[in-house]
Amino acid sequence: MNCDLIIHSAAQLVTCASANNGPKRGHDMRDVGDIANGNHLPAAIAISDGQIIAIGPSDDICADYQAKHSIDASGKTICPGLIDPHTHLIYAGDRVAEWEMKLRGVAYLEILAAGGGIVSTMRATRAAGIAALVAQAKPRLDTLMRNGVTTCEIKTGYGLSLEAELAMLQAIEQLAQTHPCDVLLTLLAAHTTPPEFKTDPNGYVDLVVEQIIPQAAAWFNQNARANHATPMACDVFCENHAFDVAQARRILMAGKQHGLTPKIHVDQFTSLGGVEMALEVGALSCDHLDVTTADDRARLAQSSAVAVVLPAVTFHLGSHQFANARAFIDDGCALALSTDHNPGSAPCLSPALTMSIACRYQKLNPAEALNACTINAAHALGIGNKVGSLEIGKQADIIIINAPDYRHLAYQFGGNLVQYVIKNGAVAMVNG
Ligand code: NIG
Ligand code: FE
Repeated sequence: MNCDLIIHSAAQLVTCASANNGPKRGHDMRDVGDIANGNHLPAAIAISDGQIIAIGPSDDICADYQAKHSIDASGKTICPGLIDPHTHLIYAGDRVAEWEMKLRGVAYLEILAAGGGIVSTMRATRAAGIAALVAQAKPRLDTLMRNGVTTCEIKTGYGLSLEAELAMLQAIEQLAQTHPCDVLLTLLAAHTTPPEFKTDPNGYVDLVVEQIIPQAAAWFNQNARANHATPMACDVFCENHAFDVAQARRILMAGKQHGLTPKIHVDQFTSLGGVEMALEVGALSCDHLDVTTADDRARLAQSSAVAVVLPAVTFHLGSHQFANARAFIDDGCALALSTDHNPGSAPCLSPALTMSIACRYQKLNPAEALNACTINAAHALGIGNKVGSLEIGKQADIIIINAPDYRHLAYQFGGNLVQYVIKNGAVAMVNG
């Protein structure tokens, strides 16, 4: 049979496929779907029209298929493309000076309360204009993709006015249209209260509910881009100095009424009860979870929501308050990992680094970390049926790791082992 591309002779091929079409939980997270398991036969994958059409021992695939193009993956590992389900990739400027303050002991919430933090990036972002936002974000997305990311979520949240939030959506959309990485949009107008509403935070919630959400949803629905098969999401930062549970509920409910999928930043520093509320409104994911209680963890385990943990944030803030990812898995939650790339709490562009930290400080094993960056991360975005694993019929988003075993991704750190990034069946990037 003819096909477009064969990647053959790989030392290992891990599918990350889930047995039940949902995210992996509990013991299943320790299984990466190593197809050569036991027999150590070199593995291969065949691709046609951007889709995976066959996976198996290299000799069989090479005998069955005649490929237009081929890649020799001898000594290397074939993995699903990584999914980054939580980023704030669009913004202007940086927060290097604040980072130095944090190194001297000033807390993240102290800086936010004093009108810095998210608000300082808001000022830079409002002043930048769409073209500059896209230009500044493009190298970030390039780097993320060079590090293996084939699908990435990007949030607004540094506009914090009707005009500026819509401008951020347009910037994300322009970036998405000109970049090989798939991009999903999330409206995070409720990231914090902007200075104009400092004395009237509920006035800002009114603006988000009555104007920003409806107009953002209308903009999204009029936009013809193909990947609108995936709805936009609506996120809120539920935290002291941001939004309380009642405000967050109003925002997520308003989003839902306009077709936006609920997501939440919750339990980063303070457990306010946001997990219970988010599950009531049907959140697709609950993200951060550094201080989540055992009761809320049990609620998450009973729900369909994915628990997205962000160890690069804890690392960057020099804290030791890591989400109890070990307990999340052991209690049966669907756990995913993300970079949370943003200028304030995680200027991180490497999912492999998040795996490295999660293994060392959150006691994940490497298989759990990889599943958390692939199939479970895809489910945190509601696209686990299309991407996140290597299975026949799925989108051919694949990375080739320059190591004979997937565990090297989390074992080594400080470099980049991703050699090929294949997007929709075509080579999008080659490193080295
Ligand atoms: O996910 N915690 C709130 N939001 C972002 C940080 C945003 C910022 O500091 O600019 C986060 O950590
Ligand atoms: Fe975030």
